[in-house]
Amino acid sequence: MSKPKILVTGGVGFIGSHTVVELYNAGYEPVIIDNLNNSEAFILDRITQITGQKPVFFKGDVCERADLQALLEQHSDIAGVIHFAAYKAVGESVQHPLKYYHNNVSGLVVLLQELQAKGINNLVFSSSCTVYGQPEINPVTENSPVQKAESPYGNTKQICEEILTDTVKVSDTKAIALRYFNPIGAHDSALIGELPLGVPNNLVPFITQTAIGKREKLTIFGSDYNTVDGTCVRDYLHVVDLAIAHVRAIERLLNNESTDKLEIFNLGTGKGSSVKEVVDTFVAETGVNFNFVYGPRRDGDVEQVYADTTKANNVLGWKTQRDLKNMLVTAWEWEKSLSKK
Ligand code: UD1
Repeated sequence: MSKPKILVTGGVGFIGSHTVVELYNAGYEPVIIDNLNNSEAFILDRITQITGQKPVFFKGDVCERADLQALLEQHSDIAGVIHFAAYKAVGESVQHPLKYYHNNVSGLVVLLQELQAKGINNLVFSSSCTVYGQPEINPVTENSPVQKAESPYGNTKQICEEILTDTVKVSDTKAIALRYFNPIGAHDSALIGELPLGVPNNLVPFITQTAIGKREKLTIFGSDYNTVDGTCVRDYLHVVDLAIAHVRAIERLLNNESTDKLEIFNLGTGKGSSVKEVVDTFVAETGVNFNFVYGPRRDGDVEQVYADTTKANNVLGWKTQRDLKNMLVTAWEWEKSLSKK
């Protein structure tokens, strides 16, 4: 029997590429569409090195109807879709809101229309804990209130969830929206990982680039938050754990296990870690020291947010396996491998 084909939009990106590997591990056949705007083609060869398989790759854009039509014409047997293709830089979204609304929102709309035209009904969507803003109570459950978005990026995730809510009501589309907390780390092989363009916005790539000598120092944004050590608290999770959750979600849709046409799951470890704890753990685990200073708070940052993972554990049947140490060590191995490239 041929393996179920899963379309992975943005499959060359950070979370996408790790998910493609885990799809192969679980016996699926991924088909990738990616415009390579925010990712690099060599990652495709790396996926082949890891899995021994060469993924079908379309260089194309989910906002371009013709690209999707050509792909779906060729692969009429796609069983489900995992939709990663989106921009994710909070600051950039404030500067270029239309770029974000076009890519993230129009991309989902065009994708859904073309999938419906072909009768493809199973969609896993990348959402974010950003929809909770600064929650009044931590850990946050899926029923915690969604708050007004702090940025156009955050707003695109909320709008996309609303588009899914409205769409599943009146069509055969079934969807699972996964609200990620903070994905970090890299594959154990150090062959794939996060590839930030230019100066990283996110904490862990900034740490590894500073540790390797590409950046002079890390600035910790804020030391006067009402947290354990004054720095912000987030729920960091390993990208391989996150990738496995996507495989589980698509399986749930394909097996008709969903109890609602749109299901939402928080994906995190359930444990909050402060920025200072991340820095200290990195130094302790790698033995590499680097410079850091405390600076002012960053606009739009929330003080703390971490997940209640009960629903993901009990309903999705997924739980993270890796701890912060493993996340930081694998991220470091990846940074070192990049510097040798
Ligand atoms: C943000 C978004 C999240 C999105 C993610 C992907 C919000 C609230 N969160 O996560 O939805 O999926 O980006 O890009 O919109 N930090 C430093 N120094 C640095 C960089 C970061 O101290 O140089 C701190 C931040 O203040 C924060 C923590 O590290 O407390 C994590 O920051 P980051 O990695 O950028 O992720 P979030 O802002 O949590």
